[in-house]
Amino acid sequence: MKTSEIRQKYLEYFKKKGHAVIPSCGLVPDNDPTTLFTSAGMQQMIPYLSGQKHPLGARIANSQKCLRTQDIEEVGDNRHTTFFEMLGNWSLNDFFKKEQLSWMFEFLTKEVGLDPHHLYVTAFKGLPEAGISRDEETAGIWKKLFKDAGIDAADVVGGEHAIKDDERIFYYDEMKNWWSRSGKPQAMPEGELGGPDSEIFWDFGAELKLHENSPWANETCHVNCDCGRFLEIGNNVFMEYIKRGGAVVKMEQRNVDFGGGLERVAAASQNDPDIFKIDLFSPVIETIERLSGKKYGTDAKTTGAMRVIADHIRSAAFLIGDGVLPSNKAQGYFARRLVRRAVAKGQQLGIEKNFLSEIASIYSSIYLNIYPLAAEQIGAELEKEETKFRRTIHEGLKVFKKMAAENSMLSGKQLFDLYQSFGFPLELSLEIAKEGGTAIASGAENEFREDLKTHQELSRTASAGMFKGGLADAGEQTTKLHTAAHLMLAALRQVLGEHVVQRGSNITAERLRFDFAHPEKMTPEQIKRVEDLVNEQIAKNDPVNREEMALEDARNSGAMGVFGSKYGERVTVYAIGEFSKEICGGPHVASTGVLGHFRIAKEESSSSGIRRIKAVLE
Ligand code: SER
Repeated sequence: MKTSEIRQKYLEYFKKKGHAVIPSCGLVPDNDPTTLFTSAGMQQMIPYLSGQKHPLGARIANSQKCLRTQDIEEVGDNRHTTFFEMLGNWSLNDFFKKEQLSWMFEFLTKEVGLDPHHLYVTAFKGLPEAGISRDEETAGIWKKLFKDAGIDAADVVGGEHAIKDDERIFYYDEMKNWWSRSGKPQAMPEGELGGPDSEIFWDFGAELKLHENSPWANETCHVNCDCGRFLEIGNNVFMEYIKRGGAVVKMEQRNVDFGGGLERVAAASQNDPDIFKIDLFSPVIETIERLSGKKYGTDAKTTGAMRVIADHIRSAAFLIGDGVLPSNKAQGYFARRLVRRAVAKGQQLGIEKNFLSEIASIYSSIYLNIYPLAAEQIGAELEKEETKFRRTIHEGLKVFKKMAAENSMLSGKQLFDLYQSFGFPLELSLEIAKEGGTAIASGAENEFREDLKTHQELSRTASAGMFKGGLADAGEQTTKLHTAAHLMLAALRQVLGEHVVQRGSNITAERLRFDFAHPEKMTPEQIKRVEDLVNEQIAKNDPVNREEMALEDARNSGAMGVFGSKYGERVTVYAIGEFSKEICGGPHVASTGVLGHFRIAKEESSSSGIRRIKAVLE
């Protein structure tokens, strides 16, 4: 089944089950400085999973664009990608395990048509010291669902023995079957939500593991092993716990948080473990074959390089589409890494001319109806970055040749210098060395990896405080700055004119950053006038009113929205006196008096026609 068909069937199925379908949010989460990218559909749901009422009700579904940076090094095998789409559905203190698992089973077997004989599932083994018992309820529900499909399914502890014929439901501990954004219960920070989960795996068949070249040929195969026989296609999290006072306790509401990999469901539906053979990738792989004159599947290296290119350009295109341009900072740096690795892999395949924008345009047409990508801008940015990197490679090559002429062999440290100064990935240097007959010291690869690890640990220390899966920071100071941003937008429109619309924002505990459409630099007088207007509003101590209404009513009432956003049918509107009215998810302070003194610290150009303000509350 094609991915577009699976996506559509999924959303329609859950709509029939009473779910409101909401749009995907962007790859860069709004107002969440604790995470670089959206990596799970539940991120935009956190306020509602924690108790806030969702304007569209208690059943929500969507397909969410996600990016997981931690998987970048894995890309090249048959199933890892950095960008992916997560099919999600949520119960906000509404239905629970029985409905969720039954619907999921029906959706997968009846709507997608997956053979239930290939489905395997897991459940939580329990954590007695935390007072959480084994999830036999989940196992019982699965048992009945399989039974009704004519399959006798036994439940056993997983991972310790080879799977026997009737075994299908496996208990695993908190390392595998507990989900929170920080992992197991013991690792959850105060206030974090989590719960036991139940994963669904697709079995591609025992013969895969027995393949003579498989490194796992002599190991015990189980659903969570890495041999590639089983692929996780979805995860049902029963999110009813919260960390409070150092303990994991039940919270006031019981939620379900499901996330399934769209591309993985598609791979299961064609029963081919190679994700890169699904319809989203095949036109791209064909183009890479044409450009390189090489064939996908010939050997591991060629195939791996083609997968990296296909994955990285898709991610880079989506990032640029969401406003993340390649740069040396945070998100932009990841976009740059993607581009460079794609170019380096292209070189390895013998592609010497710019090709990234051509590949990106294929993705633009594939995703046209789902996530309209600004094809021209993406193409232009990729072209620019690729040209720049190819020039750097050219410079780096000169240094490489000099090093090779001066040394009888190159060390790991020298290879690492090439990486740091010219962005040369290890494989690129090795490739150039091989072609030019340059010797590489034994152990150089390990030395390179050690240096890289140290370097990464240092930069990780620098970004300490960022959660792996993200944690929305609803801290007091960010909430205040969020309200200040509303006041500032209203003030900017009064001072500069009604053409001013929001084009992006990012708030940390220290400052707010706000991008808006305006053609020229603000004068010092205009900046002063905006500051004064905001401070006047703060002095008035007006209440901040929150109201839910139909999108149309919100628009008719003159509420501002974020340019380019897609909203659901019902929205939340925040109004501050007569001064400001915006469609927004919150949170905000109760009244403006608590904000303190507002000051614009910087006003600069962000990109053409877009200005950027950094402002603080003192
Ligand atoms: N939050 C869970 C995950 O990311 C399920 O949606 O896997």
